Amino acid sequence: MVSWLLCIIKWMPLQTFKMYDLKWFLVVGGYINFDPFKGKHPDSGFANAGEKMWFWILAIFGLSISATGVMLVFPTLDLPRELSLLALLVHGVSAAILIAFTIVHIWMATVLSEGGMECMVSGYCDENWASQHHNVWYDEIKADGTLKYKE
Ligand code: HEM
Repeated sequence: MVSWLLCIIKWMPLQTFKMYDLKWFLVVGGYINFDPFKGKHPDSGFANAGEKMWFWILAIFGLSISATGVMLVFPTLDLPRELSLLALLVHGVSAAILIAFTIVHIWMATVLSEGGMECMVSGYCDENWASQHHNVWYDEIKADGTLKYKE
């Protein structure tokens, strides 16, 4: 729950949807490799539209799994039986959704996105990777002078 809270506080400012995110969804992020989707590189900020969707899924279902988990873990709360059953149901559904998104996200970030693993391990990405994967963010940090190079 603490890790969830830290992630939400740290990343929320970068996760608001923009108009160009709509285009990302229309071409499924450019991941699909046949016409009419093939060869599309939709605009993307610090987080692309798919990552933003994952963030909000984590925010919403992380909150519901935490709240229902607390309801289930303390018998002294002495909740009505129906409420406990509902909490168990919501907890289970939230778990299934979060686990499914987690597996897909780990696979996409490590295997599917070439170079992604190196970026995560080193904490740096090269400029080509940045402009190919997160072009709007790259242009922004270049223009406002916050782009930092590895010493
Ligand atoms: C990502 C985080 C979590 C996942 C994936 C998860 C997953 C699950 C799953 C699959 C179950 C079994 C549900 C069922 O039998 O239908 C369960 C049960 C339970 N979880 Fe979680 N959970 C998470 C977080 C938490 C948290 C934060 C708490 C408490 C603060 C919690 C407390 C419990 C309790 C007490 C049960 C047992 C309920 C019972 O059968 O009496 N869980 N959890």
